[in-house]
Order: sequence, then structure tokens, then C-alpha cells
Amino acid sequence: MTLYGVGLGPGDPKLVTVRGKELMERAERVYAPGDLAAEIAGEFVPDERIEQLSFPMTRDESALRAAWEEAAEVVAPAAETGTVAFVTIGDPKIYSTFSHLERAMKEYQAVDVETVPGVSVLSAFTAAMDVTIDDGPIDVREARAGVPTDGPDQCLLLKVTDVTATHQKLTAAGYDVIYGRRLFMNDATVTTEPTSLEDDYFTVAFATRGRSA
Ligand SMILES: C[S@@+](CC[C@H](N)C(=O)[O-])C[C@H]1O[C@@H](n2cnc3c(N)ncnc32)[C@H](O)[C@@H]1O
Repeated sequence: MTLYGVGLGPGDPKLVTVRGKELMERAERVYAPGDLAAEIAGEFVPDERIEQLSFPMTRDESALRAAWEEAAEVVAPAAETGTVAFVTIGDPKIYSTFSHLERAMKEYQAVDVETVPGVSVLSAFTAAMDVTIDDGPIDVREARAGVPTDGPDQCLLLKVTDVTATHQKLTAAGYDVIYGRRLFMNDATVTTEPTSLEDDYFTVAFATRGRSA
């Protein structure tokens, strides 16, 4: 049977796609990798059908692989006989935990895996922050990978967990920066002033240089 990776969009349940909603309603079990994903899914399905799976906050490859194999062991029995959903923030194929589960599920021949795309922060940030992506290249990366110095004149950084350090690097490279924190959530903030932001995992930085005001 089928495991659907369902993208929930950036936070507002109204940005869940019609197909995502239908799949969650149809699924016998809905697995969520965190509180926020569980909360959004809870707008569409009763809590007793939602199961949270927890994963270690580590970059240790072997610990991560073990955690995902364990998650696959939990999900597979239900997916072998029915329809289940694994929900993720944004899109399941973009910088997402779903790819790890998909890989681990290859051990389970009886399970088909399908993806239901979601509204990714990669597109949603523009509306929430009232910015546009210009013609020409854009660099997208996680903040821990540093900032582009010789690269494109527009970039989007994800996982900006240390706003002060990121701001210093971006301004040193000549960028003007705007930050979006918890976009499309109840407590969303958009600001060019980094000191006003508390560090939060759900933060992006959009940086441009050489643009006229
Ligand atoms: C692991 S990536 C997941 C991206 C997701 N799969 C997507 O397609 O949007 C997580 C990072 O995306 C960014 N992000 C996702 N949703 C966000 C939101 N609603 N507001 C601000 N940043 C967000 C943050 O930088 C966060 O650290």
C-alpha cells in the first residue's frame, strides 16, 4: 500500500493544499516529525490518528540513520496494509526530513511511496516578506554553509539560528538583508533589524545587493 509524504506548507493551515488535506483525511495514521507539524495536521484529523515521531537533533550520520530506520519500522506495518501519511513543514522534497524516511522505506518492498507537494518557504517567503526574486540567479543554502561572497546578488539563507553572526557575514559581503521569522504563523515577524529578533529555527534571511531602492 502507500506512504504519502504530505507537505503542510509554511505554517498557516489555510496553505495546506486540497490534495494534502484529502490525503490526511484518508490516511489511517498520520505521522508527524514535530509539534508544529502535528499541530497543523490536527486541524484536519483527530489527534488519535496522529503519531509524533521524534528524531535526535544531531549531525551524526550514523545516529540519524539509526533514527530513520527506527521510524521506518514504526511506519512500515501500517503502510504495508493501508494508507498512511508522513507530514512535513513546507514541501517534503525540499530540505526535508521526508527524504530520510523515503530512503529507509526502500527496505519495505510492499510499500509504495508518493509525494504530495506543499507550499515551500522557498516560494512563500516572497509574499510574507513583500519581496520579489529578480531575474538572474539566486543562491539558496543553509546559514551554517556561510554566505555567498562572489556568488549571485540575491540569496536566501535557511536555518538562520544565529541572526547576529549571519547578519555580520552578509553585511560584510555587501548585502542588504531582510529577515522572516515564523512566516505564516500567528507570531510572524519580518524585519531588517536583526537585534529585534530572538533566535528561532524557523527564520530565513533574504539578502540582495546592488538593487536600487
Ligand atoms: C529543514 S528546512 C525545511 C524546508 C521545508 N521543507 C520547505 O519546503 O519549506 C527548515 C528551514 O526552513 C525555513 N522555514 C521553513 N518554514 C518557515 C517559516 N514558516 N518561516 C520562516 N522560515 C521557515 C527555516 O529557515 C527553517 O530553518
